[in-house]
Amino acid sequence: MFDSLDAVWTHAWARLLAGARSGADPFHQGVLATVSAEGPQARYAVLRAVDPTGGTVAFHTDRRSPKRAQLEADPRVAWCFFGHGEQVRLSGTVHLHLDDAEAEAAWAASRRASRQNYAGAGAPGSRVHLPGDGGPPGLGAPPLDAEAMAFARGNFALARLRVQALDWLSLSAQGHVRARFAREGDGWQADWTTP
Ligand SMILES: Cc1cc2nc3c(=O)[nH]c(=O)nc-3n(C[C@H](O)[C@H](O)[C@H](O)COP(=O)(O)O)c2cc1C
Repeated sequence: MFDSLDAVWTHAWARLLAGARSGADPFHQGVLATVSAEGPQARYAVLRAVDPTGGTVAFHTDRRSPKRAQLEADPRVAWCFFGHGEQVRLSGTVHLHLDDAEAEAAWAASRRASRQNYAGAGAPGSRVHLPGDGGPPGLGAPPLDAEAMAFARGNFALARLRVQALDWLSLSAQGHVRARFAREGDGWQADWTTP
């Protein structure tokens, strides 16, 4: 099936596009690793946008979260996805969009339930007294009023990853297959690698 690196390249980006489109797809979320002073930090993030031509992907986050400071100190990340018997590993650098037109467009396109995620009173990871305190309102909560919406928007950030390398691994009883694509100049260096 994967007899050319071009076919793998197209296929890997199609997997990412499908993940961004559907919450039911295993590529809808992946484990995102950042660099911190305490060592690596890994957590899931939802794949929100994919641009195969530009070689970029994006996630949304709360700008009060620890990962924002980590990304500002060191924008290098790895983002790892698994599904359909395939692993896709992305690495590169993240640019944070807070109040520019790109952030605005991402906010405008996001759904009500997603926006609620940014309406919690406390910064993610803050110590609280009771379970759930300071977090975003639940789905049963009334819609955000204008003030709460403005507050949520103020906590929102779009994070765009410029992919430097894409590593694709297919697991199969017939034999595993792996390929690596790395930016080189205006293009991509493509190689088969040992699985
Ligand atoms: C399936 C899943 C998807 C998630 N998606 C996101 C996301 O898109 N953005 C985000 O900031 N956090 C997301 N989270 C929460 C993070 O994993 C993490 O708990 C939170 O962002 C705090 O991370 P930090 O303390 O490293 O900043 C998700 C968690 C899960 C389990």
